[in-house]
Amino acid sequence: MRLRKDAKIELLRQVPLFSACSKRELSEISTLADELSLPEGTTMVEEGKLGHEFFLLVEGDAEVRRGGRKVKVLGSGSFFGEMALVSSLPRNATVKAATPVRVLVVHESGFRRLLHSSPGIQLKVLQTLADRAAENALH
Ligand code: CMP
Repeated sequence: MRLRKDAKIELLRQVPLFSACSKRELSEISTLADELSLPEGTTMVEEGKLGHEFFLLVEGDAEVRRGGRKVKVLGSGSFFGEMALVSSLPRNATVKAATPVRVLVVHESGFRRLLHSSPGIQLKVLQTLADRAAENALH
């Protein structure tokens, strides 16, 4: 159990979103996140559906598609699923595992706790969300 928790903290340490977090903060975050290994082709987020989870990609690649068009491939260290949780709008893209992936999944209540716990995390999520919204508005 102890080892599992330490392994999860090591995974969290590799996520740029949490780069400024202390070991203690990472330990708290680790209690909010479920670790999953998923095969290539798994749909993690579906465009148009309501969503309640935030995903951190710790290994592998994920393909982002909007209206059937591929808009981005996200690599390890990135996150997705933040937009529907911040806005309460349906998912604006489909995100599929382009390779086998390892993800950390945080439920929306945990996501809100994350945002409230750290202005640094808040800012990084907002910057990424603004970039993505702007990019999507152009296409
Ligand atoms: P959400 O709308 O919750 O679900 C789909 C997710 O795809 C979205 O949150 C973002 O995390 C991600 N996404 C949407 N548009 C882009 C984009 N242009 N580039 C990268 N990721 C995106």
